[in-house]
Amino acid sequence: MTTPIPEQDRVLIFDTTLRDGEQSPGATMSHAEKLEIAQLLDEMGVDIIEAGFPIASEGDFAAVSEIAKLSKQATICGLARANFKDIDRCWEAVKHARSPRIHTFIGTSPLHRAIPNLTMDEMADRIHDTVSHARNLCDNVQWSPMDATRTEWDYLARVVEIAIKAGATTINIPDTVGYTAPVESADLIRRLIAEVPGADEIVFATHCHNDLGMATANALAAVEGGARQIECTINGLGERAGNTALEEVVMALKVRNDILPWHTRVDSTKIMNISRRVATVSGFPVQYNKAIVGKNAFAHESGIHQDGMLKNAETFEIMRPTDVGLTETSLVMGKHSGRAALRSKLKDLGFELSDNQLQDVFVRFKALADRKKEVYDEDIVSLMSETATEG
Ligand code: KIV
Ligand code: ZN
Repeated sequence: MTTPIPEQDRVLIFDTTLRDGEQSPGATMSHAEKLEIAQLLDEMGVDIIEAGFPIASEGDFAAVSEIAKLSKQATICGLARANFKDIDRCWEAVKHARSPRIHTFIGTSPLHRAIPNLTMDEMADRIHDTVSHARNLCDNVQWSPMDATRTEWDYLARVVEIAIKAGATTINIPDTVGYTAPVESADLIRRLIAEVPGADEIVFATHCHNDLGMATANALAAVEGGARQIECTINGLGERAGNTALEEVVMALKVRNDILPWHTRVDSTKIMNISRRVATVSGFPVQYNKAIVGKNAFAHESGIHQDGMLKNAETFEIMRPTDVGLTETSLVMGKHSGRAALRSKLKDLGFELSDNQLQDVFVRFKALADRKKEVYDEDIVSLMSETATEG
């Protein structure tokens, strides 16, 4: 089943946590963990799951085959280099899926062309032959010119045209080393769509790495340029500085739909759960201040912020914690917290205080907060019992 070209305002989400994400040194997942993550991705409405690289190992082959058999909604994709053996192995694994896809790639930039030592013409022939071979096996074929953003424009346009003519239904433009900038990312896709014959009949995808911290911005810019598939991973897991983070593009499209008028099919309320599972099974903890899923993404400590939050959450939050599957905002009690936050916390803990009593507790609380990074509920309860004993 070929993935149809999405409606103009829809962006397909292609998750590669189990392939590019798992390629992060040390992020290896067990078979059972991969099946669990694939199931969560399928349930949250991801359109395409890149489940692995079937020729890489027996384990990868088994995981991709099993995920293909179990998936209920998503297209299941496997990765293959530009040779028949890889492509055949990939097809053997994905063919069980309700909707299978073969993703084949070759490095097209001067640096990458030097590795297999192919001339430009030889590589062009290889692309034609391998994409045609994949298309004879499967009617849903994705082709990627690896390191596209450092490939000469004329050659990139030429090989993209060859891949389309050979039957590719999705052309993915990888920024393999996270080198591009948003304005270039948009222009490149726009120009490919405008100038390559047949480009308007296929889906363009964007696949960005985060070496300069621009992966999400580059992916969204590519969508502005006409890409209709974003490749991403949960928590931005991936080689080196990682890939575009799924949670960031999904929430950016949701929260700023006024300026980014595209939508996805992803149920954002499932984000937090899958983020935690991926962090646990990959062994890669999420940094505290990571956008959307970091421990502090919905936490407030400063007095001004806490006071504002208590009056109106929109003062300091552009999305609701429930939008990403959290139950509530967390007002972290620490040395920057003010009286209003302490009063509210005490009320939650069952203490109603007069202004004078509050002032007394507040002084003690500040002294404690100066010694401790974070003041927990238990600390506040003991502060209250000390106050009662002394009083
Ligand atoms: O970053 C990259 O170029 C890749 C390709 C295999 C698509 O992951
Ligand atoms: Zn990649």
